[in-house]
Amino acid sequence: MSGSLSEEISRLNPSQREAVLAPIDRPIMVVAGAGSGKTRVLTLRVAYLVREIGIPENSILAVTFTNKATDEMRERLSRFVNVKRLNVGTFHSIALRIIREETGDRVVYDDEDSRALVKEIVEKGNLSVKPRALRLAITRYKNTGRIPANVDRTLFLSAYEEYQRRLKEANALDFDDILIEAVRLLEGEDIREKYAKRFFYVLVDEYQDTNPLQHRMIKLIAGAPNHRRVFVVGDEDQSIYAFRGADFTIFLNFERDFPEAILIKLETNYRSTNQILNLANRLIGHNRQRRGKTLRSHSGDGPEPVYRRFYSEREEADWVARTVRKHDPGSVMVLYRANYLSKAVEDALIRWGIPYTVVGDVSFYQRREVKDLIAYLRLAINPGDAVALDRVISTVEGVGAKTAQILKEALTSKPFTEVGEEELKAGGLRGGRLKTAAKLVNLLREIEDYPPHRALVRVIEEMDYFGYLQRKFPESYESRRDNVSQLLNMASEYTDTLEFVNQLSLLSSIDTKEKGNAVALMTVHAAKGLERETVFVIGLEEGTFPHYRALDEGNVEEERRLAYVAITRAKRHLYLSSVEVRGWRDGLEPSRFLYEMGIIGEDRRKKRVTSAREKVGKVKNSTLKKGDYVVHDRYGVGRVLRVDGETVTVLFSVGKKTFMKDRAKLRRL
Ligand SMILES: Nc1ncnc2c1ncn2[C@@H]1O[C@H](COP(=O)(O)OP(=O)(O)O)[C@@H](O)[C@H]1O
Ligand SMILES: [Mg+2]
Repeated sequence: MSGSLSEEISRLNPSQREAVLAPIDRPIMVVAGAGSGKTRVLTLRVAYLVREIGIPENSILAVTFTNKATDEMRERLSRFVNVKRLNVGTFHSIALRIIREETGDRVVYDDEDSRALVKEIVEKGNLSVKPRALRLAITRYKNTGRIPANVDRTLFLSAYEEYQRRLKEANALDFDDILIEAVRLLEGEDIREKYAKRFFYVLVDEYQDTNPLQHRMIKLIAGAPNHRRVFVVGDEDQSIYAFRGADFTIFLNFERDFPEAILIKLETNYRSTNQILNLANRLIGHNRQRRGKTLRSHSGDGPEPVYRRFYSEREEADWVARTVRKHDPGSVMVLYRANYLSKAVEDALIRWGIPYTVVGDVSFYQRREVKDLIAYLRLAINPGDAVALDRVISTVEGVGAKTAQILKEALTSKPFTEVGEEELKAGGLRGGRLKTAAKLVNLLREIEDYPPHRALVRVIEEMDYFGYLQRKFPESYESRRDNVSQLLNMASEYTDTLEFVNQLSLLSSIDTKEKGNAVALMTVHAAKGLERETVFVIGLEEGTFPHYRALDEGNVEEERRLAYVAITRAKRHLYLSSVEVRGWRDGLEPSRFLYEMGIIGEDRRKKRVTSAREKVGKVKNSTLKKGDYVVHDRYGVGRVLRVDGETVTVLFSVGKKTFMKDRAKLRRL
């Protein structure tokens, strides 16, 4: 066997090796817990298939959960195979490739676009439904064929029809449609055979989070009795995408759809210490819907996980920042149940001068300036793209609602090439407004056939887009301009505008990107598949995590899996915290998960917890001394500079403050 590959394989444990070297003519299912090397095994399996079995790279299809995972897999494989020829990607990117090949170009509406469209439909039709609920109902309906019970059927169906009509008009597919369309195509026998032949061997990571359509895709490609060269890895305890239609029973029933599958279990965890795994095992043991497995640690013992309870989120955040300083920032990840929890931590990290990046919250593509500019490109390619048109108009200064309406009518009634000043005048535009509108139309016409980079440069010049950013966002102008230059860099790698635009929209919001040596902040959902030396899980309160909505819906098991994913990201140091007051919510109880992990006893859970505030608050100010860290309700965390006689002087981020010792509302940390 080739040198470095055989070395890597020889370092695997026996079950891992069995998986990598398993027969190629039987379906293989690897079921294993967090950190047991599933992704590693899958990656080496690809290398083995190419190098040892002799399967050409372009006959292999490897499906990952995020674009970041795709990049990582390519990078890891570049030592062994020609990754350029390998088909690696997410379900959506692969589905889109099939659609393009079979039916030609389509535009992709990402989550935000489709949200905007739904919102417009709700507002225009004056519908008595929340856009969010309607959007969710559409997704559910597309994935399961069922309309959720909490939406009015008649209203839903007409809104749905309108939504689909508008997509069609824009020649667009939303994320769900991408899968639906690919499955529809693959259901044609000729097409199915073509791809079954092309994808001689199929591998899927994180299989527990596939939804029925994705599973159907795999079945169509690899399900026929003469194929079945399929290799999936997953962990039912980490299924956390039910809200998007994922169904881990698909994974558990894999053997039903792929008879004769060989089941391989991996039970050694290479990621985390015993202490962390003990908590994880205890926690997930409370779930009923699982096969059941226990992880053994390979790395042995480590430090005890730390749990702290605080009064306010500000205190919690300051504790995070102080504790982070004991570690290398690049080795730290701060996880939370929902995006809004990051704010306090960000503030604290800024105060303490610790570099950080928020991952996957507003992904690059979701940034306003990026979306604005992309909207011009989309509109130039496809004048019927109403969402893009609204976006473009919103960036043109001096265009009010009326001009917007006239422009919209002119642009949607005819192709640009035929829209001239006449049409705009006929609509009632004069003077400056007419000039602006004509400029926009001419620009769109001009850039129609440009490669993306050139088109963007023209838009920026002609519309004075930097000037607009500077006037509108004076504080964040520079970072926005940097984002635009990054967009220009990316654009210069493409010759085809549509391809560029679609590629960007596939970088979905769960996708993670990080930079340099900084603390990474992200939701637990975004942390899937990642690992770090040190992990904080904040906001472990009833109602926060588990999330109150899940509690209402009786979905605690999914939340518990989410908590399991969170703590198993940690290799060595695990810090957990909860608060009593968060935002407008008061009297919060520690999360049941803390109790289930055995971190706090039943009695503490039941009792309204005496908070850290009360505990530290008892410290008499008279015992304060130079160098102590203190918290002040108004100024936050500071450090005692001086204590003389009756006064104490503290340095806060806002500056120095001197207090009367016995009256100061200071608490020592
Ligand atoms: N046999 C092994 N020996 C040493 N380290 C391993 C082995 N298998 C996996 N690892 C390491 O353990 C960690 C978790 O592996 P990963 O493939 O990400 O697990 P999973 O996908 O199951 O969560 C990674 O850092 C990986 O390099
Ligand atoms: Mg993995």
